[in-house]
Amino acid sequence: MTTKTVFITGASSGIGAETARHAVASGWNVALFARSGDKLRALANELGSDRALPLEGDVTELDSLSGAVGKTVQHFGALHAAFANAGTGLDIAGIEEGDPKAWRKLVDVNINGVLLTTKAVYGALKDTGGHLVLTGSVAGRIHIPGSVYSASKWFVHGFAGNMAQDMREWGGRCTLIAPGMVDTPFFDDPKPDKLQPADVAEAVVHALDRPERANVQEIVLMPTG
Ligand SMILES: NC(=O)c1ccc[n+]([C@@H]2O[C@H](COP(=O)([O-])OP(=O)(O)OC[C@H]3O[C@@H](n4cnc5c(N)ncnc54)[C@H](OP(=O)(O)O)[C@@H]3O)[C@@H](O)[C@H]2O)c1
Repeated sequence: MTTKTVFITGASSGIGAETARHAVASGWNVALFARSGDKLRALANELGSDRALPLEGDVTELDSLSGAVGKTVQHFGALHAAFANAGTGLDIAGIEEGDPKAWRKLVDVNINGVLLTTKAVYGALKDTGGHLVLTGSVAGRIHIPGSVYSASKWFVHGFAGNMAQDMREWGGRCTLIAPGMVDTPFFDDPKPDKLQPADVAEAVVHALDRPERANVQEIVLMPTG
């Protein structure tokens, strides 16, 4: 059987890096995309250069993404899945004290980054009847007073449903992963009693590994405590 390939954004850290580890363990090749080339190369060395391809780039730039997807297809032969996972938060929450410059940056990564990633992988996924997985958040299902971050994740949730409808027209699948708080460098302080990156990675790989007839459309994960 051909080894399948997944393109992962935000692969240098947290949920994306751990998903790459779990995907390789489950038999996938991984293309690792983020700005921190040093971290991607270290992860690719850990996973094995025959299975992992580090690709330095920025999700706010379509050329950067398209070039990386092209290299992925050239290197591994085809693209079967993409995990649009890169995202960022805000130092100051809410509207009254919030910084509009920081909002622009957040919208560029959390909203435009997801759109541009989808645009960059779309043709390659259509070629294989492939699978798109998006990282939303529990913050994209509930209302949090004045939260711009939460609103950016509401976008991801709406878009994931629209892409599921789009992709099913040609046999493709789209899955939304919506975690509650996860212990990653997203936060300055450790969160040992919350979800661990492996919890989310297992959910992503579960969705990726379903037979083609079955689309896991949404997974919501909450820390117990
Ligand atoms: N941690 C949580 O509690 C939680 C809960 C729900 C959802 N999420 C979502 O999960 C996703 C992953 O977050 P995480 O918790 O794993 O945080 P993280 O450890 O901070 O990882 C964020 C990743 O996004 C990448 N990234 C940020 N801006 C980028 C850009 N412009 N271009 C390319 N890559 C970029 C970072 O890589 P570089 O800096 O190397 O570019 C990094 O790999 C995010 O979408 C986040 O909103 C997190």
